Amino acid sequence: MATDVETTTTPAPVAAPAAAEPAKDLTISIWRGDETGGEFKDYALPAQEGEVVLDVVHRIQAEQAPDLAVRWNCKAGKCGSCSAEVNGKPRLMCMTRMSTLPTEEPITISPMRTFPIMRDLVTDVSYNFAVARRIPGVNLRPREADGTRRMSQIDVDRGQEFRKCIECFLCQNVCHVIRDHEENKTNFAGPRFFARLAELEMHPLDTLDRRMYVSKEMGVGLCNITKCCTEVCPESIHITDNAIIPLKERVVDARFDPVVWLGRKILRRPNPTPAGVIATFAPEARSGQVIDSGKRGSAPGT
Ligand code: SF4
Ligand code: SF4
Ligand code: FES
Repeated sequence: MATDVETTTTPAPVAAPAAAEPAKDLTISIWRGDETGGEFKDYALPAQEGEVVLDVVHRIQAEQAPDLAVRWNCKAGKCGSCSAEVNGKPRLMCMTRMSTLPTEEPITISPMRTFPIMRDLVTDVSYNFAVARRIPGVNLRPREADGTRRMSQIDVDRGQEFRKCIECFLCQNVCHVIRDHEENKTNFAGPRFFARLAELEMHPLDTLDRRMYVSKEMGVGLCNITKCCTEVCPESIHITDNAIIPLKERVVDARFDPVVWLGRKILRRPNPTPAGVIATFAPEARSGQVIDSGKRGSAPGT
């Protein structure tokens, strides 16, 4: 007798599909180390739309390297804190879009080379503060009889360009005079401060004549107008054309133009070189201590 046999098959359990790993399509090579030395370390992570370099650094810091040191503040290109070298070019990390960088090769991020390393991407930029302290400030002439001081709009506009500076020090970082010659830091102000000196020198209400100071103490003669500083300025300040070249011209006038020389003798605009100024980028200078100016090396003339 035939018997119906019922066969039942239990389906084998189906494994749940594994969560897809996000594609690690970025490799970021960040310099890690301190004043004793360091090396580039690679971090792989997925790309995300709309990011700037600082976003990626923050993601690495949050997910892979919580001890990564990076200086930043505004993330809007205005505080000047996040300066670094991205693929070897001085840039603000918060203003560098990832979409502008090639991703086939690792993207390198390193600290500014001209300044001493503190840790990872953070450098000690106090050289710049020491130079700033050496620059004599504005010294306004007396008010008019009606109690006002007036200057024309064209003079306001001219100085305004230099006041856009956010002190990112990218121009200082790229300037070969100090980038490749540490010894020049004692007698060369650097492009950021030539912009400041030009602003003061062109101020129509200022009474100091800084021209020989710019030459002898600030070393404008060492600048050979390569314009590298202008190229990296995130504020598009025409440092070379509008600050350094006019300063050099004024120094030449002061030194060699007999008419101008005679005019200065008659009108007597005082030279601001103080009896004692912060002389060098030395530890004493960093702490603000005043050093006898005779200890400073002399700067070549223009
Ligand atoms: S133009 Fe002068 S100040 Fe600017 S980077 Fe070149 S040498 Fe330095
Ligand atoms: S002049 Fe330009 S590059 Fe130099 S510190 Fe100022 S903003 Fe930065
Ligand atoms: S974070 Fe302020 S300029 Fe980049």
